[in-house]
Amino acid sequence: MSPEEEAESAGWVERISAGRFDGRTVIVTGAASGIGRAVAVRIAREGGTVVAVDIAESRLADLVAAFPSVRPVAADITADDGVARIVEAAGARIDGLANVAGLLDDFSPLHETDDAMLRRVFEVNVFGLVRLSRAVIPAMIAAGRGSIVNVASEAALRGSSAGLAYTASKSAVLGVTRSSAFMYEPNGIRVNAVAPGGTLTGMRPTATNTFGQERLNSHTADVPIAVPEALAASITFLLSDDGVNVSGALLPSDGGESVF
Ligand SMILES: NC(=O)c1ccc[n+]([C@@H]2O[C@H](COP(=O)([O-])OP(=O)(O)OC[C@H]3O[C@@H](n4cnc5c(N)ncnc54)[C@H](O)[C@@H]3O)[C@@H](O)[C@H]2O)c1
Repeated sequence: MSPEEEAESAGWVERISAGRFDGRTVIVTGAASGIGRAVAVRIAREGGTVVAVDIAESRLADLVAAFPSVRPVAADITADDGVARIVEAAGARIDGLANVAGLLDDFSPLHETDDAMLRRVFEVNVFGLVRLSRAVIPAMIAAGRGSIVNVASEAALRGSSAGLAYTASKSAVLGVTRSSAFMYEPNGIRVNAVAPGGTLTGMRPTATNTFGQERLNSHTADVPIAVPEALAASITFLLSDDGVNVSGALLPSDGGESVF
């Protein structure tokens, strides 16, 4: 069975909760593809104003063509001017931030991980996420409320999902989540992480390291594969007021893979 057939046979259908994001402004990064796109679309269909951020300008234009209410910002989250343009596009009120943009590594183990790979992956997965959150949090403090969801990975739970750079970066995302959930609890800001399992998106390594690929293959279980909309269901739950009592959590959204 192909991954697509497997996901379809799960028989899950996305159901829109009309008005769940009425009057809310949510920034979504990585919105031109995969999980970020599914999150942006779900929030827009549920009444929210979505600031859709991606470095891929033409794919962002496709999103806006399909969902004209979305506010696109073609920006690199690792660049200061990109972060400034994102916050400006959102305006004074920012209710939610979904940090979804991320990069995979080439599966290299530590002894074959070069500085360029380490920097590239950390720059987007950790530094970009921190820089944008740092720019958004003052508006949330002023409002006395806000919800941030950081997309981690199964790689934050185990060593057998990817290479050193990606695994370490997603573990750092967990640390950022827990510190921020603690720090901003008095300010009414909830901060959570979602750890997707295998999801049908555009995310692929551009090249793979032989040592790492062989190690990972030897460990590949028959893992469930999800559609991006299934991840959007978990992420929007935490972003919305339905997540009212949840902060500092790591929610594996992986069809149960984390207990395999
Ligand atoms: N697909 C999976 O199986 C899987 C599993 C675990 C975790 N994740 C995580 O889910 C998140 C989304 O991944 P996806 O699978 O939807 O991948 P994807 O490649 O389909 O989408 C990622 C998007 O992020 C954008 N992006 C990358 N760098 C950026 C930057 N510097 N500034 C702005 N945008 C940038 C890309 O252009 C792309 O549109 C990532 O954080 C990824 O690590 C994915």
